[in-house]
Amino acid sequence: MNKKIFIKTFGCQMNEYDSNRIYDSIKKIGYEKTEKSEYVDCYLINTCHIRDKAKEKVYHEVGRVKKRFKAKKKPLLIITGCVAQAEGQEMIRREPYIDLVIGPQSYHKINDAILNYIEKKIKIEETDFDAISKFKYLNNIKNDTANTSSLLTIQEGCDKFCNFCVVPYTRGPEYSRPFKQILDEVKYLEDRGTKEIILLGQNVNAYESENYKLSNLILEIEKISGIKRIRYTTSHPKDMSKDLIQVYKHSKKLMPLVHLPIQSGSNRILNLMNRKHSVDEYLNIYDELKMINPKIKFSSDFIIGYPGENQEDFIETLKLIDRIKFINSYSFIFSPRPGTVAADLKTIDRKISSERLKKIQDQLFENQIKMNKSLEDKIINVLVTNLSDNKTKFFGRSEYMTPVLFEGKKEDIGKIIPVKITHSNRSSLFGETIDILNQKVA
Ligand code: SAM
Ligand code: SF4
Ligand code: F3S
Repeated sequence: MNKKIFIKTFGCQMNEYDSNRIYDSIKKIGYEKTEKSEYVDCYLINTCHIRDKAKEKVYHEVGRVKKRFKAKKKPLLIITGCVAQAEGQEMIRREPYIDLVIGPQSYHKINDAILNYIEKKIKIEETDFDAISKFKYLNNIKNDTANTSSLLTIQEGCDKFCNFCVVPYTRGPEYSRPFKQILDEVKYLEDRGTKEIILLGQNVNAYESENYKLSNLILEIEKISGIKRIRYTTSHPKDMSKDLIQVYKHSKKLMPLVHLPIQSGSNRILNLMNRKHSVDEYLNIYDELKMINPKIKFSSDFIIGYPGENQEDFIETLKLIDRIKFINSYSFIFSPRPGTVAADLKTIDRKISSERLKKIQDQLFENQIKMNKSLEDKIINVLVTNLSDNKTKFFGRSEYMTPVLFEGKKEDIGKIIPVKITHSNRSSLFGETIDILNQKVA
């Protein structure tokens, strides 16, 4: 009988992709994925280090696992992801319940590490940056997590070194996967029912391999008939090149939501953050894209209360939000990250940061509510992905990634269908398929 593995995933979609690929890998040595975390032979925590008490959260999670398995056979406990990379061997020293620590660019070594541990009980940490070997290996074992909407990492790491960010230290230097390797993976997923591809990278629009850029990749994926929607995330304003902007003119499948983090609306703060772009450069990208396609909308990430942020800087951010009318953005209070340039800077008063965060979020939410309300009584295209969690409605996403819940039928899963929006709230749209509406009228 196969052994069971459960993976608890924290952090970004790239961690989600990695978790899926770890499942693909350790299937080869007899482990089978389970959602029941209480009966497992291997418990893997795929960690994120981006903000707050990330490291402590991992130790708390390990504590919970320890408690749960107190009266049972101890599972093999593996820590992967960005905290694994940052902490390495120290994790095994501090918490002997942990058996293996494997950083994000060493997943090609995971099977050997497990077999070696089972045979010789040697605890190891693997934290080399070896993205080429990682993807060469993953390419050979195939991506077996084909959903209607599938994630696909095309680029890893970051060379930008924003002063607040831990990613260049946890994911290493920028690396782009070979063009053909990516297209093969898209076709493999298409054969297994994927309709939407979400291309991932910490700096996805910096993608460059054998002179192919992200724009080339999108236009090539566009030719794959089973793929109906293409998205990419997360991009950096500095890499929003002319060729990529022009793709919005030609592509029929590239969705009209551009997630382009700006972090702050103040040039002074962008400079202190080492962001390498100005507010005007950002606005130029916005204007160019809007000119090409007025349907395009933006979402962003914001860091509030960065060291040195004063009231005027904050007002600049509010003004920018008012100008761009972002839909669906992420905003967080600055969190000092060990090892980064901003780690030791004097933080601003927590109460002030919290008040600013609340104000920003109120304004962002207002945009979101308005956008969703504007769709009421309209018919929109929805890619149907699954039944809702409580199995009473179907779930899909609009072109702008907004969740849509509606009465539908099972056969609609995997299709793009028209849905009439009947009502909405801040985060979701609710509606009915045209068929069902007609039945009600008749
Ligand atoms: N590469 C993307 C970019 O340049 O915008 C961002 C990727 S990062 C994984 C995702 C988001 O986390 C960032 O956009 C930023 O808003 C947030 N973030 C990163 N470091 C942070 C920190 N120290 N405190 C708070 N938020 C942080
Ligand atoms: Fe982090 Fe993005 Fe800056 Fe890279 S560009 S350091 S991933 S915020
Ligand atoms: Fe977190 Fe690492 Fe992603 S720090 S956001 S899991 S790149």
